[in-house]
Amino acid sequence: MEYLIKKQFGDKEITIRQFLKKDLLSVKRFQIYLNTLVEEDAKILMRTKRTLKEEKEWLEGKLVDVKKHHKEVYLLAEYEGLIAGLCSIKLQQERQDHIGELGISIGKDFRKIGLGFYLTKELIKLAKKELKPKPKIIKLFVFANNEPAIRLYEKIGFRQVAILPDQIQFQGKLIDEICMQLYL
Ligand SMILES: CC(C)(COP(=O)(O)OP(=O)(O)OC[C@H]1O[C@@H](n2cnc3c(N)ncnc32)[C@H](O)[C@@H]1OP(=O)(O)O)[C@@H](O)C(=O)NCCC(=O)NCCS
Repeated sequence: MEYLIKKQFGDKEITIRQFLKKDLLSVKRFQIYLNTLVEEDAKILMRTKRTLKEEKEWLEGKLVDVKKHHKEVYLLAEYEGLIAGLCSIKLQQERQDHIGELGISIGKDFRKIGLGFYLTKELIKLAKKELKPKPKIIKLFVFANNEPAIRLYEKIGFRQVAILPDQIQFQGKLIDEICMQLYL
C-alpha cells in the first residue's frame, strides 16, 4: 500500500508520500528543488546543478530501486505543487546489507516547523517495513559544522560513532564529516 499523509506543519498543510510514476511527468519540480539547495550552498554533498535530463534519469533510477528491488525508500513532502523536502534510506550491499544510509533535505521555506523530524521518523518506520533485508542499523554522514542536522539526528536517537577528518570541501575549507548511527 502506498504511503500518503496530509499533515499540518505551522500554517502549511503538507502532503507526505512516496515517489510515484506520475512524478516523471513533473521532473522540473525536483530539478528546481535540488538546484535551489545547490544555489543556497546547503551543507549537502551535491554542489553542481542538475539538468532536466539528469534529473529525469535520476528519478527513473530511483523508481526502479524503490519499486522493484526494495533497496531504497523515499518520502517526499509537497506543498501547493512545490517539493518541500526529500528523505531517503538506501540499503547498503553484500556484507553491509544490514545497514541503511539516510539522507534528508528540507527546502528553506519549510525548515524549523518539525517537517524534517517527522519525515525522518516516518521514513525509518517505512524502511523497516519495505526494505529487504530489513535493516538493523541506520547510518548517516553529516558535515561537522551542520548543527541543525546534528541536533535533529540526536533528537531522533542517532549517536556519533566516528569523525572523518577533512572529508568535505566547503567554502574554501576542508570540513570534517561525522558518522552517526541508530540501532533499530
Ligand atoms: C537539517 C534539516 C534537515 C532540519 O530540518 P527541519 O525540518 O528544519 O528540522 P525540524 O524543524 O524538524 O527540527 C527538528 C530538530 O532539529 C533541530 N534543529 C532544526 N533546525 C535547527 C536550527 N536551525 N538550529 C538548531 N537546531 C535545529 C532541533 O533539535 C529541532 O528540534 P526542536 O524544534 O525540538 O528544537 C534542514 O535544516 C535542512 O534540510 N537543511 C539543509 C540540508 C541539510 O543540511 N541536510 C542534512 C544533510 S546531513
